Amino acid sequence: MSEETLSNLLKEDRRFEPPAEIAEHANLRAEAYDRAAQDPEAFWAEQAERLSWDEKWDRVLDWDDRPFAKWFVGGRLNASYNCVDRHVEAGRGDKVALHWIGEPEDDTRDLTYAELKDEVSKAANALTELGVGTGDRVAIYLPMIAEAVIAMLACARIGAPHTVVFGGFSSEALSSRLVDCQAKVVITSDGGYRRGAAAALKPAVDEARAKSSAQGHTVEKVLVVRRTGQDVEWNDDVDVWWHDAVDAASTEHTPEAFDAEHPLYVMYTSGTTGKPKGILHTTGGYLTGTSYTHWAVFDLKPETDVYWCSADIGWVTGHSYMVYGPLANGATQVMYEGTPDSPERGRWWKIIQDYGVTIFYTAPTAIRSFMKQGREIPDRYDMSSLRILGSVGEPINPEAYIWYRQVIGGDRTPVVDTWWQTETGMIMISPLPGVTRGKPGSAMTPIPGVSAEVVNEAGDAVPNGSGGYLVLTAPWPSMLRTIWGDDERFIDTYWARFRDQGYYFAGDGAKKDDDGDIWVLGRVDDVMNVSGHRLSTTEIESALVSHPKVAEAAVVGAKDEDTGQAVCAFVILREEAGDGGEDIVAELRKHVRQEIGPIATPRQIMIVPELPKTRSGKIMRRLLKDVAEHREVGDVTTLADSSVMDMISEGIDSGKAED
Ligand code: PRX
Repeated sequence: MSEETLSNLLKEDRRFEPPAEIAEHANLRAEAYDRAAQDPEAFWAEQAERLSWDEKWDRVLDWDDRPFAKWFVGGRLNASYNCVDRHVEAGRGDKVALHWIGEPEDDTRDLTYAELKDEVSKAANALTELGVGTGDRVAIYLPMIAEAVIAMLACARIGAPHTVVFGGFSSEALSSRLVDCQAKVVITSDGGYRRGAAAALKPAVDEARAKSSAQGHTVEKVLVVRRTGQDVEWNDDVDVWWHDAVDAASTEHTPEAFDAEHPLYVMYTSGTTGKPKGILHTTGGYLTGTSYTHWAVFDLKPETDVYWCSADIGWVTGHSYMVYGPLANGATQVMYEGTPDSPERGRWWKIIQDYGVTIFYTAPTAIRSFMKQGREIPDRYDMSSLRILGSVGEPINPEAYIWYRQVIGGDRTPVVDTWWQTETGMIMISPLPGVTRGKPGSAMTPIPGVSAEVVNEAGDAVPNGSGGYLVLTAPWPSMLRTIWGDDERFIDTYWARFRDQGYYFAGDGAKKDDDGDIWVLGRVDDVMNVSGHRLSTTEIESALVSHPKVAEAAVVGAKDEDTGQAVCAFVILREEAGDGGEDIVAELRKHVRQEIGPIATPRQIMIVPELPKTRSGKIMRRLLKDVAEHREVGDVTTLADSSVMDMISEGIDSGKAED
């Protein structure tokens, strides 16, 4: 973000007071900030009391072996019991847990907590029958159907860490995750509905299984949900229908209590190298953090609220704020399978109207695309049930914030701009809807219990009005415990930069305004944020270089009105490939789609004769970003060959580039 945009942002002087009604009945009040700061461990112990523990902890936090934390040491609990059974036992079995809505109209399914308990118990029994034991990893590659939630909770119930892989990822991406965490079983479906059509999923699993075998890892079983009814290849030794295995299983299942630090799941996310990082979350701390934040930041009133988070279950937001947080809190929520514009553009708003949604959580990229379509569409629906709106995944520009509040929220609803990461597991910086005077564009302050700072290179806090690196200065219960199988990378990535201070380095740049409120500006490393999804420049570069015609590639995230950032690639072809042929750009885009998935497809690919490099051979992405964003190219004095930028510009002018 340029200094000019930044100072414009910081001149933002619109403020929104919390509505009196919400302030009066707020779950969390202003006093919590001080109380938590005075005795963080006591505060977190109080939050952990929200859960049902089979055995109480002896120690809230063991931070002796930094940066490897243990929370609620000695405590034992079952995450699935906490999300399901205890609500049934408390007499709330008839309360709807999930209003599931399929993309095809009139394809809906309501699951009460009692029904969810039966389904999860059956699935847990079926997984045990398939040979899944405590500690075994199970991969879940499913569309947004209720079975995705059931499968996750069933895994948690038997202590088998799940790894959910976004259904939009390719077989290549799936297989690298299967191998990395050595998944024993994959749960998938024949396909799912997107934009009115049935899209297949099972073939990608078959391919990924073959690719994994080639690398010496055997996936033993594939459990397949029938969703679309499309034809699937079947291997009797491996494939099992969900409706055969699960429907036949007993609804009786006694959940076992696991150690608070028992692994709950591994979620892969992009880092600065080509290899995704398996972020490990454990049970007690994660559930405490997600339950607390879901209750505090969304001011959840489980008896009356209807909550809807539009995130896909394949991302951390789907884990923390569709599965574990809301269900631990006994919420009633909406889960929608498809895209916002199917069968018509008002689909989301119709869902809000039909189900009386009161709390809605989505991403700025979606808001911006609705803004483009104009307010006439949402204006057709009655969304007066809404009382709180949330935003996540990337900075929300003030205009999008205002539009969201006014058009969707009828100018009544607070907007909570929530900053967090796959690694943090829970919301860390956010307004509180009943306490904070909201500022469009600012995530405001760390929530009670959380300590964050903006620091300079030396690790010192910057004064108000200045920018720097965003760090977390104290441990929190739902913090990642490590990177699966790679403690060294865990230390290097997050804890090495500010080792002396012991701070967690988030990888984001941020600014404190004159009031000390935080504005998160985006990544300072080689990680891009496309539509709120994290992508690694190196990962896409590796994908491009794996194409036989490509010699070298450099990828940058360039500003994009719709998606926040977009993937722009600069590619040098191999000599023998000549000019690559007429369809080279299309060919390379397709290749990236196959290697990673459609979200990584470059918006723009430029075939260039050279790449700008420093004398030590490092690609200067900053200069490429200037080109991609159509800016005058910045300082080139550190370039090994300063004529390279001219060559690139000439190459682009002469043709082989595509928007
Ligand atoms: O750069 C920040 C951005 O998204 C990154 C985390 O991405 P991921 O792990 O995929 O998790 C996304 C959902 C939590 C952060 O490092 N980000 C997330 N929320 C915000 C944000 N940037 C600005 N404002 C936010 N509210």
